[in-house]
Amino acid sequence: MLRTPIALVPYLFLCLFVAGGALWSIAAAEGGGLVYASGGADTATLGGPFRLTDQNGRVRTDADFHGGYVLLYFGYSFCPDVCPTTLASIAAAMDRMGKNAARITPVFVTVDPARDTPKVLKTYLAAFGPRFVGLTGPDKAIARLAREYRVYYAKRPLEAGGYAMDHSGQLYLLGPDGRLVTFYDFPIDPKKLAADLERRLAGS
Ligand code: NI
Repeated sequence: MLRTPIALVPYLFLCLFVAGGALWSIAAAEGGGLVYASGGADTATLGGPFRLTDQNGRVRTDADFHGGYVLLYFGYSFCPDVCPTTLASIAAAMDRMGKNAARITPVFVTVDPARDTPKVLKTYLAAFGPRFVGLTGPDKAIARLAREYRVYYAKRPLEAGGYAMDHSGQLYLLGPDGRLVTFYDFPIDPKKLAADLERRLAGS
């Protein structure tokens, strides 16, 4: 089981608060997740096209995923807490789901492309199951996509050397047309996520 140690919770809230305060205002609460909009804009304006490289070295664009649902998450493989917890929760939610799980692709976009090469992503994501697609690419392409989803991230040097990446932790659900349907805040409850996804996919 991957669990977030209690000691990390204040840091997580700080991280999310920084991102939330700067960029988001709550527009509506719905189901298992809050729906946010930036500056009063419609959620339909969030997101945009991309062209990145997956963990097998193949070029992938947003259009590749149209026709199915996508759970989109921005993070990095060296993340000690939020990312592995979220990815494990996604995997657990999909394990709980019936055949509808096959209609959803979890997509992990790195905010640390300098370290997260396709090879690193492949090894990392294998731990969470075969469904995950990992995307990396040039700094500019990552920054553009993050901006389109109002995802905050920043490099933070560590005392011991090296660096961490602070990043916001929302999990986005995109519909078959590639548009944002809703999103879920950290921490993700696998049971609630699975129930919400089943409900949304039932009638579509
Ligand atoms: Ni993380």
